Amino acid sequence: MKTDILVIGGGIAGLSFALRVSKRASVTLVTKTEVMESNTRYAQGGLAGVFSENDDFALHVADTLKVGDGICNKEAVKVLVENAPDSITWLDSLGVAFDKNGSFHLGKEAVHSRRRIVHAGDSTGKSIQQVLVDRVTEGKITVLEQHDVVSILSEKGRCGGAVVVCDGERKIIHARATVLATGGIGNLYSRTCNPAIATGDGIALAYEAGATLMDMEFIQFHPTGLLHKGTNFLLTERLRGEGALLVNAQGERFMEHYHPEREMAARDIVARACFMEAQKTGADVYLDMTTIAKDVLEKEFPAITAKCTLLGYDVFSEPVPVSPTAHYLCGGVKIDLSGRTDVDGLYAIGEVSCSGAHGADRLASNSLVDGLVFSKRLAEHLEKGLLEPVEIEETLLDEESSSLSAIQALMWEHVGIVRNQQGLQYCLDELKKLTGRNATVAEMITRCALAREESRGTHYRSDFSTKIDLFRKHTLINKEGISFE
Ligand code: SIN
Repeated sequence: MKTDILVIGGGIAGLSFALRVSKRASVTLVTKTEVMESNTRYAQGGLAGVFSENDDFALHVADTLKVGDGICNKEAVKVLVENAPDSITWLDSLGVAFDKNGSFHLGKEAVHSRRRIVHAGDSTGKSIQQVLVDRVTEGKITVLEQHDVVSILSEKGRCGGAVVVCDGERKIIHARATVLATGGIGNLYSRTCNPAIATGDGIALAYEAGATLMDMEFIQFHPTGLLHKGTNFLLTERLRGEGALLVNAQGERFMEHYHPEREMAARDIVARACFMEAQKTGADVYLDMTTIAKDVLEKEFPAITAKCTLLGYDVFSEPVPVSPTAHYLCGGVKIDLSGRTDVDGLYAIGEVSCSGAHGADRLASNSLVDGLVFSKRLAEHLEKGLLEPVEIEETLLDEESSSLSAIQALMWEHVGIVRNQQGLQYCLDELKKLTGRNATVAEMITRCALAREESRGTHYRSDFSTKIDLFRKHTLINKEGISFE
């Protein structure tokens, strides 16, 4: 099969990119399961954009840099922030039912110095996913669901499509441009709020094709995953923005012992504090939403109140148990500001990619806009012209994949919220005994975490607990090895 553009993955980045480029090129979009399933679908909080009169781009940039902890690519941050409002307005024009009262209702999340979170109740991602899927499937884009990409067709630094498997049948898709939009890696950890499909497939595919990965050690843990067996449900940061508090098993607030900004400190700080408080007290920590007026809680957080009620919690009268949970990969496949990787014809957008906009930790609600902004920039880049077609032969890479649960346990234990040399080295040695793309991605994360002998953003080393200027750099890893730049 031949197509101009092959898009791998159907979250906000892949879908919005496909919509934008399909006017001028043939587009095939493949998804590992059904097209409605993606990390985007589970996003609660929203999209950060400068809309209010007391806000400006410089403030949003400053907040993003603060959380990024010294290693953001400032140009990428500027691009992200300055293009966010237009991208959000574009989604609005497609019919996403954002909360409005004349203008957008703007929520607050940690470190944002202004209210700037555009949202659709507490199911923002679901509304976006539905609207984009409707638009994509009614157009002329070929959507292939249940198609798992097993390798990228690449040769001498040039990509020419991918090999997919559906119902055991192998198919080759030749493409002039191949776009990775496969999302993150949360499901490589035993505790995650990501769906099962988030196993970093695009990272492994890109690495195998010769691309460089960047800042892979920076895994963001969200502080408040609902701690309830069998669910990976998130309790959005916007709850803390509206006044919800973190308390220990004795009902005491504890964030003041960890950071002056308490519940509104950067996410890595709050996640670590929850982790450490639970260790110190030997008991769970809780999110107390009773501080939010009942009508606000019901009106603004209907999915959360419904889910908690279903699971037996009365959020109006008691705190609910929470735990940090693997949430977002700040690193990924290294891209330039147009979405190009260092393999010709291979591009990346959304969570799988890394422009450096998020540095060592990501500001809340900057991820959906990242998917929108960089997919638009890639669409504009490709509209100027596609590379000439190439016919690249398939190289077979069939190997048995090791059990995901073994990898999840290793990663949670040794490459989680608090890391050290001994645990990282043990994990790496164990991962080397395993095979398959999940093991490859886990190994990349672990190698980068081992090499960064400092603590910065989401990467905390108990054996190197401070920030070191020497490491104020990006971590780069590819088949040739690892370096800092
Ligand atoms: C949340 O709703 O707390 C998550 C938002 C985000 O990760 O940007």
